[in-house]
Amino acid sequence: MPFTIGLTGGIGCGKSRVAENFAKLGAAVIDTDKIARALTGPNSKALDIITAQFGDDYRRTDGSLDRARLRHLIFTNAGAKAYVEALLHPLIRQQVAVEMATLTYAPYQVIVVPLLLETHQYQEWIHRILVVDCDEAQQISRTMARSGLTEAEVRTIMRHQISRETRRLRANDIITNKRTLAEMEDQVIKSHRHYVVLAHKYREERE
Ligand SMILES: Nc1ncnc2c1ncn2[C@@H]1O[C@H](COP(=O)(O)OP(=O)(O)O)[C@@H](O)[C@H]1O
Ligand SMILES: [Mg+2]
Repeated sequence: MPFTIGLTGGIGCGKSRVAENFAKLGAAVIDTDKIARALTGPNSKALDIITAQFGDDYRRTDGSLDRARLRHLIFTNAGAKAYVEALLHPLIRQQVAVEMATLTYAPYQVIVVPLLLETHQYQEWIHRILVVDCDEAQQISRTMARSGLTEAEVRTIMRHQISRETRRLRANDIITNKRTLAEMEDQVIKSHRHYVVLAHKYREERE
Protein backbone atom coordinates (compact mmCIF):
# COMPACT_ATOMS: atom_id res chain seq x y z
CA MET A 1 0.00 0.00 0.00
CA PRO A 2 1.77 3.18 -1.16
CA PHE A 3 1.64 6.45 0.76
CA THR A 4 -1.64 8.00 -0.33
CA ILE A 5 -3.06 11.52 -0.27
CA GLY A 6 -6.82 12.01 -0.58
CA LEU A 7 -7.36 15.26 -2.48
CA THR A 8 -10.74 16.90 -2.08
CA GLY A 9 -12.46 20.30 -2.07
CA GLY A 10 -15.66 21.97 -3.13
CA ILE A 11 -16.72 22.16 -6.76
CA GLY A 12 -14.62 24.63 -8.74
CA CYS A 13 -11.97 25.08 -6.04
CA GLY A 14 -9.29 23.72 -8.35
CA LYS A 15 -8.89 20.02 -7.48
CA SER A 16 -8.21 19.01 -11.08
CA ARG A 17 -5.71 21.83 -11.63
CA VAL A 18 -3.91 21.01 -8.38
CA ALA A 19 -3.85 17.30 -9.28
CA GLU A 20 -2.31 18.11 -12.69
CA ASN A 21 0.48 19.93 -10.89
CA PHE A 22 1.13 17.01 -8.55
CA ALA A 23 1.30 14.74 -11.60
CA LYS A 24 3.84 17.05 -13.27
CA LEU A 25 6.03 16.76 -10.17
CA GLY A 26 5.96 12.96 -10.36
CA ALA A 27 3.12 11.92 -8.07
CA ALA A 28 0.82 9.17 -9.33
CA VAL A 29 -2.65 10.68 -9.70
CA ILE A 30 -5.94 8.78 -9.78
CA ASP A 31 -9.03 10.92 -10.48
CA THR A 32 -12.39 9.44 -9.49
CA ASP A 33 -14.24 12.08 -11.55
CA LYS A 34 -12.48 10.90 -14.70
CA ILE A 35 -13.20 7.30 -13.76
CA ALA A 36 -16.89 8.10 -13.21
CA ARG A 37 -17.11 9.79 -16.63
CA ALA A 38 -15.38 6.87 -18.34
CA LEU A 39 -17.66 4.35 -16.62
CA THR A 40 -20.78 6.18 -17.82
CA GLY A 41 -19.49 6.95 -21.33
CA PRO A 42 -21.38 6.18 -24.56
CA ASN A 43 -22.06 2.43 -24.88
CA SER A 44 -21.06 1.75 -21.30
CA LYS A 45 -22.78 -0.90 -19.23
CA ALA A 46 -23.49 1.60 -16.43
CA LEU A 47 -25.22 3.99 -18.86
CA ASP A 48 -27.37 1.13 -20.17
CA ILE A 49 -28.39 0.33 -16.59
CA ILE A 50 -29.16 3.99 -15.84
CA THR A 51 -31.34 4.42 -18.94
CA ALA A 52 -33.08 1.09 -18.31
CA GLN A 53 -33.92 2.30 -14.80
CA PHE A 54 -34.79 5.97 -15.39
CA GLY A 55 -35.60 6.20 -19.10
CA ASP A 56 -33.94 6.86 -22.46
CA ASP A 57 -34.17 10.62 -21.80
CA TYR A 58 -30.98 10.22 -19.80
CA ARG A 59 -29.05 9.36 -22.98
CA ARG A 60 -28.26 12.36 -25.18
CA THR A 61 -28.48 12.15 -28.95
CA ASP A 62 -24.69 11.69 -29.18
CA GLY A 63 -25.02 8.59 -26.99
CA SER A 64 -23.52 10.14 -23.87
CA LEU A 65 -25.09 10.43 -20.42
CA ASP A 66 -27.13 13.58 -19.82
CA ARG A 67 -25.28 14.51 -16.65
CA ALA A 68 -27.31 17.64 -15.89
CA ARG A 69 -30.54 15.65 -16.07
CA LEU A 70 -29.20 12.87 -13.85
CA ARG A 71 -27.85 15.43 -11.37
CA HIS A 72 -31.27 17.07 -11.18
CA LEU A 73 -32.89 13.68 -10.59
CA ILE A 74 -30.60 12.65 -7.77
CA PHE A 75 -30.82 16.04 -6.08
CA THR A 76 -34.61 15.82 -6.02
CA ASN A 77 -35.13 12.09 -5.45
CA ALA A 78 -33.35 10.33 -2.59
CA GLY A 79 -34.22 6.88 -3.92
CA ALA A 80 -32.69 7.67 -7.30
CA LYS A 81 -29.59 9.04 -5.57
CA ALA A 82 -29.21 5.84 -3.56
CA TYR A 83 -29.70 3.76 -6.72
CA VAL A 84 -27.07 5.62 -8.75
CA GLU A 85 -24.59 5.61 -5.88
CA ALA A 86 -25.09 1.88 -5.27
CA LEU A 87 -24.43 1.31 -8.97
CA LEU A 88 -21.46 3.61 -9.50
CA HIS A 89 -19.55 3.84 -6.23
CA PRO A 90 -18.42 0.19 -6.13
CA LEU A 91 -17.45 0.36 -9.82
CA ILE A 92 -15.42 3.53 -9.25
CA ARG A 93 -13.72 2.05 -6.19
CA GLN A 94 -12.89 -1.12 -8.11
CA GLN A 95 -11.32 0.92 -10.89
CA VAL A 96 -9.30 2.94 -8.35
CA ALA A 97 -7.97 -0.36 -7.00
CA VAL A 98 -7.09 -1.50 -10.55
CA GLU A 99 -5.24 1.76 -11.24
CA MET A 100 -3.44 1.59 -7.89
CA ALA A 101 -2.24 -1.92 -8.71
CA THR A 102 -0.87 -0.89 -12.09
CA LEU A 103 0.94 2.28 -11.00
CA THR A 104 4.52 2.51 -12.05
CA TYR A 105 6.97 3.76 -9.49
CA ALA A 106 6.07 7.06 -7.88
CA PRO A 107 7.06 8.41 -4.44
CA TYR A 108 3.40 8.64 -3.38
CA GLN A 109 -0.04 8.74 -4.93
CA VAL A 110 -2.88 11.24 -4.95
CA ILE A 111 -6.50 10.09 -5.22
CA VAL A 112 -8.87 12.89 -6.25
CA VAL A 113 -12.26 12.32 -4.61
CA PRO A 114 -14.71 15.26 -4.75
CA LEU A 115 -16.95 13.71 -2.06
CA LEU A 116 -14.15 12.23 0.05
CA LEU A 117 -15.54 13.72 3.27
CA GLU A 118 -19.20 13.13 2.41
CA THR A 119 -18.75 9.40 1.75
CA HIS A 120 -16.56 7.01 3.68
CA GLN A 121 -15.26 4.88 0.89
CA TYR A 122 -11.60 5.76 0.71
CA GLN A 123 -10.75 6.36 4.37
CA GLU A 124 -8.79 3.16 4.81
CA TRP A 125 -6.64 3.81 1.74
CA ILE A 126 -5.75 7.37 2.66
CA HIS A 127 -2.96 8.59 4.91
CA ARG A 128 -3.61 12.32 4.63
CA ILE A 129 -6.49 14.54 3.60
CA LEU A 130 -5.53 17.48 1.40
CA VAL A 131 -8.21 20.12 0.85
CA VAL A 132 -8.11 22.65 -1.99
CA ASP A 133 -9.84 25.75 -0.66
CA CYS A 134 -11.16 28.94 -2.22
CA ASP A 135 -13.98 31.44 -1.58
CA GLU A 136 -17.53 30.44 -2.40
CA ALA A 137 -17.89 33.28 -4.89
CA GLN A 138 -14.85 31.89 -6.72
CA GLN A 139 -16.32 28.39 -6.72
CA ILE A 140 -19.40 29.80 -8.43
CA SER A 141 -17.64 31.97 -11.01
CA ARG A 142 -15.04 29.33 -11.91
CA THR A 143 -17.57 26.55 -12.23
CA MET A 144 -19.91 28.70 -14.32
CA ALA A 145 -17.05 29.64 -16.64
CA ARG A 146 -15.88 26.04 -16.95
CA SER A 147 -19.18 24.23 -17.35
CA GLY A 148 -21.88 26.62 -18.48
CA LEU A 149 -23.98 25.80 -15.40
CA THR A 150 -26.07 28.64 -13.99
CA GLU A 151 -25.33 30.21 -10.62
CA ALA A 152 -28.42 28.50 -9.17
CA GLU A 153 -27.23 25.11 -10.43
CA VAL A 154 -23.77 25.58 -8.94
CA ARG A 155 -25.31 26.66 -5.62
CA THR A 156 -27.46 23.51 -5.61
CA ILE A 157 -24.38 21.34 -6.10
CA MET A 158 -22.63 23.25 -3.31
CA ARG A 159 -25.58 22.66 -0.97
CA HIS A 160 -25.12 18.91 -1.51
CA GLN A 161 -21.48 19.12 -0.43
CA ILE A 162 -20.27 19.63 3.15
CA SER A 163 -19.53 23.17 4.24
CA ARG A 164 -16.24 24.86 3.55
CA GLU A 165 -15.71 25.19 7.29
CA THR A 166 -16.17 21.45 7.98
CA ARG A 167 -13.88 20.57 5.10
CA ARG A 168 -11.17 22.86 6.44
CA LEU A 169 -11.52 21.32 9.91
CA ARG A 170 -11.12 17.78 8.58
CA ALA A 171 -8.07 18.60 6.45
CA ASN A 172 -4.55 17.56 7.35
CA ASP A 173 -3.25 19.99 4.73
CA ILE A 174 -4.82 22.87 2.82
CA ILE A 175 -3.88 24.41 -0.51
CA THR A 176 -5.36 27.89 -0.77
CA ASN A 177 -6.35 28.54 -4.37
CA LYS A 178 -7.73 32.04 -4.09
CA ARG A 179 -5.21 33.94 -6.15
CA THR A 180 -3.14 33.21 -9.24
CA LEU A 181 -2.39 29.79 -10.65
CA ALA A 182 1.30 30.52 -10.03
CA GLU A 183 0.64 30.94 -6.30
CA MET A 184 -1.28 27.68 -6.25
CA GLU A 185 1.57 25.93 -8.08
CA ASP A 186 4.09 27.14 -5.48
CA GLN A 187 2.01 25.57 -2.75
CA VAL A 188 1.81 22.31 -4.69
CA ILE A 189 5.62 22.26 -4.91
CA LYS A 190 5.89 22.76 -1.13
CA SER A 191 3.31 20.05 -0.45
CA HIS A 192 5.09 17.71 -2.85
CA ARG A 193 8.38 18.11 -0.97
CA HIS A 194 6.59 17.46 2.30
CA TYR A 195 4.86 14.35 0.93
CA VAL A 196 8.09 12.92 -0.47
CA VAL A 197 9.59 13.12 3.04
CA LEU A 198 6.48 11.64 4.68
CA ALA A 199 6.33 8.84 2.11
CA HIS A 200 9.96 8.01 2.77
CA LYS A 201 9.35 7.81 6.55
CA TYR A 202 6.27 5.71 5.91
CA ARG A 203 8.25 3.20 3.85
CA GLU A 204 11.04 3.07 6.43
CA GLU A 205 8.57 2.34 9.21
CA ARG A 206 7.13 -0.52 7.25
CA GLU A 207 10.46 -2.18 6.51
N1 LIG B 1 -6.12 30.08 -9.26
C1 LIG B 1 -6.95 30.05 -10.30
N2 LIG B 1 -7.17 31.17 -11.02
C2 LIG B 1 -8.01 31.15 -12.07
N3 LIG B 1 -8.70 30.08 -12.50
C3 LIG B 1 -8.53 28.94 -11.83
C4 LIG B 1 -7.65 28.86 -10.71
N4 LIG B 1 -7.69 27.58 -10.24
C5 LIG B 1 -8.54 26.90 -11.05
N5 LIG B 1 -9.05 27.71 -12.00
C6 LIG B 1 -10.02 27.35 -13.04
O1 LIG B 1 -11.27 27.16 -12.39
C7 LIG B 1 -11.98 26.08 -12.98
C8 LIG B 1 -12.26 25.03 -11.90
O2 LIG B 1 -11.04 24.38 -11.56
P1 LIG B 1 -10.99 22.79 -11.48
O3 LIG B 1 -9.59 22.39 -11.21
O4 LIG B 1 -11.68 22.20 -12.66
O5 LIG B 1 -11.90 22.60 -10.17
P2 LIG B 1 -12.47 21.27 -9.50
O6 LIG B 1 -11.76 20.11 -10.13
O7 LIG B 1 -12.19 21.44 -8.04
O8 LIG B 1 -13.96 21.30 -9.74
C9 LIG B 1 -11.12 25.54 -14.12
O9 LIG B 1 -11.53 26.11 -15.31
C10 LIG B 1 -9.72 26.02 -13.71
O10 LIG B 1 -8.88 26.16 -14.83
MG1 LIG C 1 -12.36 18.45 -11.21
